[in-house]
Amino acid sequence: MEGKRQRGIAAPTTLTIRVHRSKPLPRAQAQGGRARRSNPFASSGSNAPTRRSAAKRWVQDYRITAQPQDTLLDCLLSIKRQQDPSLAFRYSCGHGMCGSDGVLINGRPGLLCEATVAGSARSDPQGTAPFRPTTRFLPQHQGPATSGENPPSPQNALEVGDELIELAPLPGFPVLRDLVVDTDAMFRQIKAVHPWLGTGTVAENDQPSPGAPAVEVKQTPSQLKAYELLSDCISCGLCEAACPIYAGGEAFIGPAALVAAARFINDSRDDHAQDRLNGLDREDGLGACQSIRACARPCPRGIDVGETIWKLIESTESASHL
Ligand code: SF4
Ligand code: FES
Repeated sequence: MEGKRQRGIAAPTTLTIRVHRSKPLPRAQAQGGRARRSNPFASSGSNAPTRRSAAKRWVQDYRITAQPQDTLLDCLLSIKRQQDPSLAFRYSCGHGMCGSDGVLINGRPGLLCEATVAGSARSDPQGTAPFRPTTRFLPQHQGPATSGENPPSPQNALEVGDELIELAPLPGFPVLRDLVVDTDAMFRQIKAVHPWLGTGTVAENDQPSPGAPAVEVKQTPSQLKAYELLSDCISCGLCEAACPIYAGGEAFIGPAALVAAARFINDSRDDHAQDRLNGLDREDGLGACQSIRACARPCPRGIDVGETIWKLIESTESASHL
């Protein structure tokens, strides 16, 4: 995980945290705005969440002094307490267990509570022309594209040679405000694969199986190993944000739901592996995966998401040849 790599700055330093912010427009103003539907696998109809709803957007720089081992969550909490209480971000456990604080860190999905200042800060590469210029590493911060409620003050302006960390909301999810995204669609997609043990008849009303065993069911170490790591998934959505199919808005159940399905398909106590595979074998299920495998890189639990999905695809293909 990039956030755990210690590199770059090694002593307390002043750096710039650049945050891509947004604030939803009042409903009356928003109705004139352009909006795009979120992942159609989960939602349809006029109440479907929008991926890019009408909002005021701007980029804001905050200058802070931080220790190398400080997490980016520490940095944002410091900013919120001491500089700008209006900055919105989500977190809960603070140590990589709840999965609620996923953001883009320098363009890559990561957890705020796991990424450190030392592992994330980049120097302004003065004199190095980027292959594709972005808002990062401008010689001087250009200010918000639209007038923000907190325009950058002169003391917050990025200077050449500054250490910089850029934060943005996770792609693939509708942005609610600043770094907070709406993950409801992802959880609906996970629920759609019935993420519970099925040892009897799967109830049609999506309720947990009434046939769950009343007695202990033993497993061998190898049977446990087949799904143990998959059960560590914290539904953080980083794999979804890294997937160009899901984040691009295509009709796709998404890697997080496929990992949830694989966890039960691989469990020897579950009687419905084939039913589960049949349910995933559709165009907006496994058929939408293009095996790009970008999903594996950011997983904070070390799950090889791409390989997990590939094994599901292999299983459906081998079953179809029986
Ligand atoms: S598979 Fe990994 S990256 Fe994807 S939701 Fe689960 S923990 Fe997060
Ligand atoms: S705050 Fe819970 S995983 Fe980061």
